[in-house]
Amino acid sequence: MRVCIVTFGCQMNDYDSGRIAGMLRDRGADLVEDPKKADFIIVNTCSVRRHAEDRVLSLLGKLRAWRRRDPARRLVVAGCMAEREAGSIAGRFPHVDFLVGARRITEIGRLYDAVSSGRPAARGGPLVAVGDAPGGDGVDFGDAPAVRPIAHQACVAVSRGCNRRCSYCVVPSARGPEKSRTAEDIEEEARRLAADGVREITLLGQTIDSYGRDLGDGTSLESLLRRLYGIPGLLRLRFITNHPANCRESLFRTMAELSDKVMPFIHMPAQSGSDRILKLMRRGYTREKYLRLLDAARRLCPGIGIASDFIAGFPTESRADFEDTLDLVRRAGFQSCFLFKYSPRPGTEAAGMPDDVPEAEKKARHAELAALQAGISERLNRERIGCVEEVLVDSPSKTDPGRLTGRSRSFRIVIFPGGPDLIGSLVRVKIEKATALALYGSLVR
Ligand code: 5AD
Ligand code: SF4
Repeated sequence: MRVCIVTFGCQMNDYDSGRIAGMLRDRGADLVEDPKKADFIIVNTCSVRRHAEDRVLSLLGKLRAWRRRDPARRLVVAGCMAEREAGSIAGRFPHVDFLVGARRITEIGRLYDAVSSGRPAARGGPLVAVGDAPGGDGVDFGDAPAVRPIAHQACVAVSRGCNRRCSYCVVPSARGPEKSRTAEDIEEEARRLAADGVREITLLGQTIDSYGRDLGDGTSLESLLRRLYGIPGLLRLRFITNHPANCRESLFRTMAELSDKVMPFIHMPAQSGSDRILKLMRRGYTREKYLRLLDAARRLCPGIGIASDFIAGFPTESRADFEDTLDLVRRAGFQSCFLFKYSPRPGTEAAGMPDDVPEAEKKARHAELAALQAGISERLNRERIGCVEEVLVDSPSKTDPGRLTGRSRSFRIVIFPGGPDLIGSLVRVKIEKATALALYGSLVR
């Protein structure tokens, strides 16, 4: 069958979609980009903000006609919304055939087998598979090799779910408690990927600092990095996302020790610079603790790139609270930030607080933060002018096929003239120009 997978949300979802694609390709599916050309569509959904959900709902509405046109077609809704909103999706969109939660994605393989072998799927309501897999340990990794958009890069999930309870966040309810994969299992996948030509692996975990704690055998992110470090063929290791309440200095020491392969970059969302708001968010740290962590990171890993996330307009956020966030951003020197307007999520603790920052004010604060950070990113990027960056070449540049794009060690985008033969290799690029978003230069031979 012709299969199309449409993905919303985070890198964990991209990873799951790649896994689903690999699973179905192994079963003979023909993967297509255009949903209109498919007989089997999987929408892998995200619940993190209302906006992400609205885009999914609008797509599901549009697929009503597609589904009706041919009774053999099947529509699968997977991921976080399937987990949280199965009932309301089934009610509103009777043309959805299957709802499959984030912990059950291997069920999609079985569904595909049933449908492609002509066994009729049950009607009179969609089949629903959410929560932990029955009898399993709840971690549903499967072993089909994932489909990768860039052949020499791969993500590897090291854990699933989250044990923290940030008051605004759906992840714990959508993905369940944190469960780590064993280090042996991860190493095996990493070796397989390296043998298959992968040069860079990004380890994925919702709060990757706590990776391994539930295994109870002393496994940690640090020990995992040491274990993967020796894999032949692997040039670069990265990991996301760090949580400031769980992150320890020992991680930066390990990064420094393994710095030829473990790249100097962390994504460690601060969310707010106001201690009062951080408390309401239940983040488990203060602004001073956060800034001290950044100091430690820079002391132990000079040149480290640091990225963060912020939410503007959390319940009761005053102008003074927001000023604290601006001040934190000024002092932190982030390489980049992802900025969001607060979006109340049903079922979370914060949804019970007054959503009292008006939409226009959320928008204004979001814009003010974005302008501040753009200036900082540009200033920091301009400091790289004249330096030589080691770049892993990703692909031709989307806007100019005569140029290549890749990432520096600290995860900056680097664009330079060159041919496709360099894709997947490490090159040295002398930086000549910089914007807030990218560095531009030319190859050093
Ligand atoms: N509203 C706005 N932003 C949110 N995020 C998570 N939940 C919400 C919410 N309810 C943001 C956080 C997180 C990123 C993935 O999305 O900044 O780090
Ligand atoms: Fe969205 Fe969070 Fe689910 Fe990722 S884990 S898809 S960001 S809700």
